Amino acid sequence: MRTVPFNIPFLTGSENKYLQEVFDQKEFAGNGPFTKKIQKMLEGYLDAPKVLLTHSCTAALELAAILAGFGPEDEVLVPSFTFVTSASAILRTGANVIFCEVDPKTMLLDIEDVKRKLTSKTKGIVAVDYAGFSMDFNQIKELCDEYNLICIEDAAQGLGSSWNGNALGTNARFGTISFHQTKNIHSGLGGCLIINNIEDIERSEVLWERGTNRSAFFKGLVDKYSWQDIGSSFYPSELQAAFLYAQLEGIENNLEQRMELWDYYEKVLTPLEKLGHFRLLRPPTDCLHNAHMMALIFPNPNSADAAREFLNERGVQAVIHYVPLHASPMGKKLGFKPSDLPITLESAASLIRLPMHLSMTKEDVDYIYSILHSHVQKHD
Ligand SMILES: Cc1ncc(COP(=O)(O)O)c(C=O)c1O
Repeated sequence: MRTVPFNIPFLTGSENKYLQEVFDQKEFAGNGPFTKKIQKMLEGYLDAPKVLLTHSCTAALELAAILAGFGPEDEVLVPSFTFVTSASAILRTGANVIFCEVDPKTMLLDIEDVKRKLTSKTKGIVAVDYAGFSMDFNQIKELCDEYNLICIEDAAQGLGSSWNGNALGTNARFGTISFHQTKNIHSGLGGCLIINNIEDIERSEVLWERGTNRSAFFKGLVDKYSWQDIGSSFYPSELQAAFLYAQLEGIENNLEQRMELWDYYEKVLTPLEKLGHFRLLRPPTDCLHNAHMMALIFPNPNSADAAREFLNERGVQAVIHYVPLHASPMGKKLGFKPSDLPITLESAASLIRLPMHLSMTKEDVDYIYSILHSHVQKHD
């Protein structure tokens, strides 16, 4: 039986060469030549004033939440349909997470629910760019201006996407990206924080450097470095950075090939979609996407489960995505009930993700089409 794994991590072939350079330079610990080169590279690519590499997107979210100054008594609005650390990063500051619905059409934060949940304690919003797609950041900006809120754009899946011409990760005060091996471009584990306001740069470097002013010391701005602020060991080793450097060199090629695959998927699945058994999750019109994900939305959770099982039995590793956080054991400990967010509960369980990686061929997509076709015929 043919098998199509859900993900096979991307490799450019030059990772080894750059890893060897780290061995030659004998600088392993981090914030070395590769880290510095990548930060500059990403600042140019994203058109952002400052990028700091982190050992994960989770670390970048935690750093952003500290920089945002969230604390006990504050409320931060987070979609329930997201990865756990979009919320746990907020909880670590002592702030309360208030879960919001997603718009089932886009699976992005529902701005009307955000408005309903605003209180005098609301201090921030985490806007998640699900699937590398983006919501309308003008609406978020208006709310932030009116209610003095800080937004963190969680663009974990968004490198290479843009909204209205702005790279994802640059549409709010802070942005975060993941370089986990499940992402288009990766370093095994990895991530970065994007600092979009110049006035946040100095403190962000201190927190990133374990709370010390070591960066200022190396720039010759102070004659010794010392503990200044709360912080942590947020950056990756040079080994991760060297690996990531090779990957970033291949980004244009990667995006082009992924787009070709995504477009092919869309072409073959659209006729099936027209029969009304599922729909493809597509980007909003003002968003250019990075072909990170091919997701199908079924009319209800049962039909999604049946299609996923049918695909799995035939060697195609289709998977569910996030289990809504408000309905998780931790969500319950925080006082939420599954019925609090019925739209998220239903739409999350109605979504399946199909394999999407550069080791796939168009024949794999044809195979997936043929399985979905026979599944749909069974149910017609
Ligand atoms: C929306 C979102 N935020 C944060 C993360 C965490 O990323 P990392 O694994 O790099 O910490 C993920 C992981 O996939 C994610 O999907």
